[in-house]
Amino acid sequence: MRRLRTAILISGRGSNMDALIEAARPLDFPAEIALVLSNRPDAPGLARAKSLGLATAAVDHKIYAGREEFERSMQIVLETYRIDFICLAGFTRLLTPWFTGAWSGRMLNIHPALLPSYRGLHTHARALADGVKIHGCTVHFVVPQMDEGPIVAQAAVNVLDDDTPQTLGARVLEQEHRIYPLALRLVASGAVRVKGNRVLGGAMRAEDVLLAPDEAAPP
Ligand code: GRF
Repeated sequence: MRRLRTAILISGRGSNMDALIEAARPLDFPAEIALVLSNRPDAPGLARAKSLGLATAAVDHKIYAGREEFERSMQIVLETYRIDFICLAGFTRLLTPWFTGAWSGRMLNIHPALLPSYRGLHTHARALADGVKIHGCTVHFVVPQMDEGPIVAQAAVNVLDDDTPQTLGARVLEQEHRIYPLALRLVASGAVRVKGNRVLGGAMRAEDVLLAPDEAAPP
């Protein structure tokens, strides 16, 4: 089995990066983490990846005149490492249609909300303000429109009465760490196919996507 040479793109702490690295350790995982790339040379996740012995690179967006110049530099690094596939994991730069086009069907993102609800920022605070009872996270293919694209996996959590954006975000983050590796496995193993805006064929087990059992249980 040829493992997909995967780059994780980060900008910050990199907890989803950690989950992907851990999941990809076994040699039978269909993707290998061949590079961690950050637009912030001081990203904590980048230092951790380096300390784990992974290949790392920084392309500092601040030194480029425009988005596409920055992305063309990233592209050179990605080609140098013969990258097949990208996982965005807390990567905070908006991507141009040029870059998303170059990686069409080969780039995933994780978003801390149940898309198509709560695209954009401050998802947990907005969910609380709206009084929703269920919130969660989504792994999707990246398309030119921000936080759109075929959905590979989602997981839900209950919103609790005493939740703050921080407590709710922490429970969602636990689910992110579960479903991002699952989604990468589904895509990298060829278990799913994209048809229009839908990802088909990746029937996930109920326990992987529904409310975490302890939260779903009645009090
Ligand atoms: C996560 O909540 C992810 O959904 C969002 O950015 C955050 C990154 O966190 N895109 P981390 O750097 O993976 O810890």
